[in-house]
Amino acid sequence: MDNSLIIALDFANKSEIERFLTPFDDRKLFLKVGMELFYQEGPSIIHQLKEKGHQIFLDLKLHDIPNTVKSAMKGLARLECDLVNVHAAGGKEMMEAAVEGLDAGTAAGQKRPYCIAVTQLTSTSQEQMNKEQLISVSLNESVLHYAALSKDAGLDGVVCSAWESAAIHAQTGSEFLTVCPGIRMESDQVGDQKRVATPQFARDAGVSSIVVGRSITRSTDPVKSYKQWINAWRG
Ligand code: C5P
Repeated sequence: MDNSLIIALDFANKSEIERFLTPFDDRKLFLKVGMELFYQEGPSIIHQLKEKGHQIFLDLKLHDIPNTVKSAMKGLARLECDLVNVHAAGGKEMMEAAVEGLDAGTAAGQKRPYCIAVTQLTSTSQEQMNKEQLISVSLNESVLHYAALSKDAGLDGVVCSAWESAAIHAQTGSEFLTVCPGIRMESDQVGDQKRVATPQFARDAGVSSIVVGRSITRSTDPVKSYKQWINAWRG
């Protein structure tokens, strides 16, 4: 799981995915399927991508009462994804239920998917968090608090910005995964992301894995872009 570059497949449907993946030939990728695609195509898209040998991060960010999350995770475990997630704001009991559900849904002898928690979205700013969520501590403190809570609940890591990764590892140990979106090359558009960082910065900060979306998926030559990203990330 460490050192992966996960491509965010933020596309509307299967044919757009096929168009994007075809030029990659037989290259095995780590792909993130999010709400946009999953709500359109359903579980079959996961089966199809797994059959081609890709690793899958199913990014549905579950956030509901513990019992519902447990049952949902039991079902998601059967899809045999490599990585799934919840919102840490759902609380410790909900996160424990997520892991229980994953354990229950994982076939004997199989490894259960890694489960990580979103701390604060990388599109959230300090001001927005203070004013809209009424969380009065700093964004950094909120992220560190959620990371500690996620670890206590038995999760494998968190989704955070690259800026918070080193502090999280100092607090929770380097085994705890930090999976970081909001990664941009100097020349890229930032878009709706707020806490962005470059791949070099992420590497130096000890980030476990990065998630890259539009910089690759909207590039005129995605394969070339992917290779440039791999070089920048792995050094
Ligand atoms: O296009 P971009 O590189 O900004 O894509 C980032 C991806 O990571 C999107 O799919 C977004 O949903 C996801 N994500 C995020 N921030 C989080 C969790 C997931 O941007 N905290």
